[in-house]
Formats: sequence, C-alpha cells, structure tokens
Amino acid sequence: MPDFSERPGSELPGPASGPGPWPADRRITIRDLQAATDRGERWSMLTSYDTLTAGVFEQAGVRALLVGDTSGELVLGYPSTVPVTMDHLIPMVQAVVRGTRTALVVADLPFGSYQSGPQAALASGIRHLKEGGAQAVKLEGGRRVLPQVDALTGAGIPVMGHLGLTPQSVNVLGGMRRVQGRGEAGEELLADALALERAGAFAVVLESVPADLGRRVADALRVPVVGIGAGPDCDAQILVWPDLAGLTSGRLPRFVRQYADLRHDLLDAARRYTEDVAARRYPDAAHSYA
Ligand code: KIV
Repeated sequence: MPDFSERPGSELPGPASGPGPWPADRRITIRDLQAATDRGERWSMLTSYDTLTAGVFEQAGVRALLVGDTSGELVLGYPSTVPVTMDHLIPMVQAVVRGTRTALVVADLPFGSYQSGPQAALASGIRHLKEGGAQAVKLEGGRRVLPQVDALTGAGIPVMGHLGLTPQSVNVLGGMRRVQGRGEAGEELLADALALERAGAFAVVLESVPADLGRRVADALRVPVVGIGAGPDCDAQILVWPDLAGLTSGRLPRFVRQYADLRHDLLDAARRYTEDVAARRYPDAAHSYA
C-alpha cells in the first residue's frame, strides 16, 4: 500500500467507529458484513476507481468499495457502462486494493464478461480475484444469471447481485432515469432477490426502486440489501463517489445527496493556478529549489 503520510490529508481522522467490531488489522470479509447486518448496524459502501480515493474512503469508515463499471462513464468517458471491459477494470481494481488495508473490495463484472454463461463468468471472476486482488465480484440480473452465480460461488468467489435499475441493460430499460419495480414488476424483483440469495449471493444491490419495495426486499432477505435509491430501510447504502462529492454535474437522480462541491473547488483551484502561472506568481521563491 502506498505511504501517503507525507501528503496533505494524512491528518484525516481514522475510520468512523461504529457500534460493532470492525477489524483494524485485516480486510473486512463478507462474514463481517453479514454480522453487522445481523446486529442491525447500517454500513456504507462507495464506488472507487483509484488508490487515492480508496484510501480516503477507507479512512472515513466506508466498509466496502465497489470498483464499478460506472468508471466507464466517469473515468473513461464512455456514454454508458456497456463498452467497459475486464481489461479496463482490472488496473482500477489493483489500484483500489493497493490503496486499502481493511475495506472489502468488490469488482464489477462488466457487460459481456458473464452474460454468455457460467464459464465466462468464472473466467472473469477468477481474473478479478487473481489479477485484480478483489475479494468479491458483482453482476447484474436475477434469475437469468443464477447459473453464473452458482458457478462463481461454487468456485469460492463471493457474489454480490444487482437488481432494479441495472445500467448494463440501458438499451432495454427505456432510459437510465426510470424507477424500476413498480406494480407487478416489484413481485418479479422480489422473486429475483430471493433466488439470488438462495444461489449463494452474499449481498444484493438494489438500485432506483420505490422505498417500500426496498423495505420488502430487505425484510425478506437475510443477506445484506445495499440500497442506491431504494429508500432508508435497506441494510446498507452505496453511492457513486463523484455524485456524493459533487464532481458530477447536470441533473442527478433524486436519491443523490451531494456532501461536497468538489467540482466548484477543483475548478477554482485550477483557475487560480492558471492565473498565477500567467501572472508569474507561481512558482515563487518558496516553491523553488535554491
Ligand atoms: O458500477 C457501479 O458503480 C454500480 C453502482 C451504481 C452500484 O453498479
């Protein structure tokens, strides 16, 4: 893990201490997440795509980090998550693992890396664990991906499911803003969630569904239900970190709460820097070698 002790920010306080016993000297496991859920403790996840943010989020007490395929849009500039490949994600998974000591690192299985069947899923999952160093993988879908979940868990690879708004299916969902699981679709989603749990998934992400469906799924499942736009009754929450930090612009989903305005701060810092360079105020004597 890189040593950032000489860098600004290293004075940040340690992990937020929750009521439960979280390990300080080893990685959090799926058992720790289940134990926290069993004792009724709410825990949080964030996405992370690089070493620096991963270290900061772990220090803040975020228990698990998802190297999500949202990186395709936010880091690589693609219009959706569909073009993302394993080769894109693995260096990011490695970076997040290198930047953390205790957080559980979940690596997303990108579109095309598991849909064709259990063998493809297994090959991709193995790459994420062996090459990336992740401790778990996430895939989208319910009953249609059970053979993949079975193959992965059977090989000792912990699987996180993802239901509701599943961005890899943007081309059939009718847009990325649609709340999923209303009416009859809610029953289907509940059945998918139960099937994922039965197949051995250790947690299920629930994205953009009505809060009462979020509650029903969390009540029905023993494994943690990790909400993103699924209301307050999920066992845990996840957000896409540039959304939380105010780096993303435009109309954001209703569920996003911006805890900072990094876009403004970064813009301001970069502007003042370019102005200082133009005005020959930077570098000055204090920032030059004798
Ligand atoms: O890829 C991702 O970041 C995700 C989150 C939206 C849960 O799947």
